[in-house]
Amino acid sequence: MTDHTTEHLTIVSHPLVQHKLSIMRDKNTSTASFRRLLREISLLLAYEVTRNLPLTTRRIDTPMMAMDAPAIEGKKLALVSILRAGNGLMDGILELIPAARVGFLGMYRDPETLLPVQYYCKVPENLDERLTIAVDPMLATGNSSVAAIDLLKEKGAKNIIFLCLLASPEGVARMKAAHPDVPIVTASLDSHLDDHGYIVPGLGDAGDRMFGTK
Ligand code: URA
Repeated sequence: MTDHTTEHLTIVSHPLVQHKLSIMRDKNTSTASFRRLLREISLLLAYEVTRNLPLTTRRIDTPMMAMDAPAIEGKKLALVSILRAGNGLMDGILELIPAARVGFLGMYRDPETLLPVQYYCKVPENLDERLTIAVDPMLATGNSSVAAIDLLKEKGAKNIIFLCLLASPEGVARMKAAHPDVPIVTASLDSHLDDHGYIVPGLGDAGDRMFGTK
């Protein structure tokens, strides 16, 4: 299976990603398994989202000779987790790129209006010099994702990728309208949103399932 890619949206259709996602969707999957699978999927998604990271070189000695070996400039990367569910996706990427700078945006969705409310913001300096990967498992209405990207741009970020586990067509359209310059990487584009702004078929509330809060 090949990845479905448009300029704005990449759906990572790798069988391992899809298999793990199906187990996560199952309502009988335990919190412990959900969390482990999310970590595993985040490693696989990290592979896709970092595909075009610029490489520098580092002088090393192999047992045979000296060489200028390719190396990622981890310090040029900022990972920004949209709390709280973003943390589950971020952990795996950080394992792969431990030198990345890390930020947090606290956003919650007002259950009545479905509009985002910001309660925390701490992001690395010099975002304008970094690739900024914003992570949130669920791109649902797109309201909080658009607000998060608004904020990152206010803080100077120019080169942003949005990484999520599931996306709704409504959320993708909203992001594309507000931030056409921000590519989205996801494991699935689901059918639609329900009346409460939940993704269908989805996996329920990602934060609750990850942290066992319901
Ligand atoms: N947030 C979630 O956790 N799940 C959804 O389906 C939508 C938003």
